[in-house]
Amino acid sequence: MVTVFGAQAYRPPSLRREALPTTGALTHGFLCVRFDSDGMESVSVDSVEVPVLGFGTWRLEGDECRTAVKRALELGYRHVDTAQMYGNERAVGRAIEESPVEREEVFLVTKVRRKNLAPEDVRQTVEASLDRLGTDIDLLLIHSPSQTVPLEDSLAVMNEFQDEGSVSHIGVSNFSVDQTRAAMEASETPILTNQVEYHPFKDQDELLAFCRDEGVLLTAYSPLADGQVPGTDLLERIGAEHGKSAAQVAIRWLIQQENVAAIPKAASRDHQAENADVFDFRLTDEEMDQIAQLSRK
Ligand SMILES: NC(=O)c1ccc[n+]([C@@H]2O[C@H](COP(=O)([O-])OP(=O)(O)OC[C@H]3O[C@@H](n4cnc5c(N)ncnc54)[C@H](OP(=O)(O)O)[C@@H]3O)[C@@H](O)[C@H]2O)c1
Repeated sequence: MVTVFGAQAYRPPSLRREALPTTGALTHGFLCVRFDSDGMESVSVDSVEVPVLGFGTWRLEGDECRTAVKRALELGYRHVDTAQMYGNERAVGRAIEESPVEREEVFLVTKVRRKNLAPEDVRQTVEASLDRLGTDIDLLLIHSPSQTVPLEDSLAVMNEFQDEGSVSHIGVSNFSVDQTRAAMEASETPILTNQVEYHPFKDQDELLAFCRDEGVLLTAYSPLADGQVPGTDLLERIGAEHGKSAAQVAIRWLIQQENVAAIPKAASRDHQAENADVFDFRLTDEEMDQIAQLSRK
């Protein structure tokens, strides 16, 4: 797949510190946004290519999950998000195995449950995840911070899996700025992403600024606000200007921001296809600002 530079990412007004280039690669710290020739976009984080659009699988199980993930891959998704907690790692793994898409083209993410963060539990449950997935893990996240287990203890075992080669990268989820900083200090390897709730009704300016400065990708979960985005007046109106739906506008708003990936979930083919069809239009800066205001009302 040929990768050509040429994206221009958006920053909210509060985060605009310098003029952005109008052409060429957009780099900031370790981050660089790219357009791929087949229409899917990736962000390069510390030289790791992460497709900016992922497929979320929470609440998809068994055959429904397997079918949905296979179809998502057919539709062009190249980033799949699962977790120990979702009870669907086996179905996700089978879908990837059965798909004609080459394994190395898929960026596979799973997460260690909070209750499994004691070192011996990380060891045992990640081995079980690897077994269920039937393939290596591209990105292993701490699903949410533990109140009891020291971060460095969990991260040390995650780092061991990296040394052993079955996990390529690690990261966190549901971490605050301070917790992300602590994870970065405690891990021997870079924290690739912090996966957090982010959509037009949720302000993440502070965390996003921190992540951007530190070269950590922010992965937006629940990008459609768990189904509340469709029907929102402003998003429907902006969508009508571009011939797009409110859901497409919300996803576009996220991935058009520097340093943001989004992982919408959709059970139906129509929704899956709609959510992937977000690379052929661009929101204006004014539209981006208007959407950002939704979380401030
Ligand atoms: N790290 C964490 O703690 C965490 C927490 C929550 C979620 N996540 C991840 O993020 C993923 C996405 O978040 P989410 O599942 O909470 O919610 P979401 O993606 O914001 O929304 C999913 C809902 O929106 C509907 N939908 C999808 N596309 C649509 C479209 N084009 N038009 C209208 N409705 C549409 C879906 O319906 P259908 O399914 O019927 O199409 C579903 O009801 C999860 O699946 C999971 O992988 C991570």
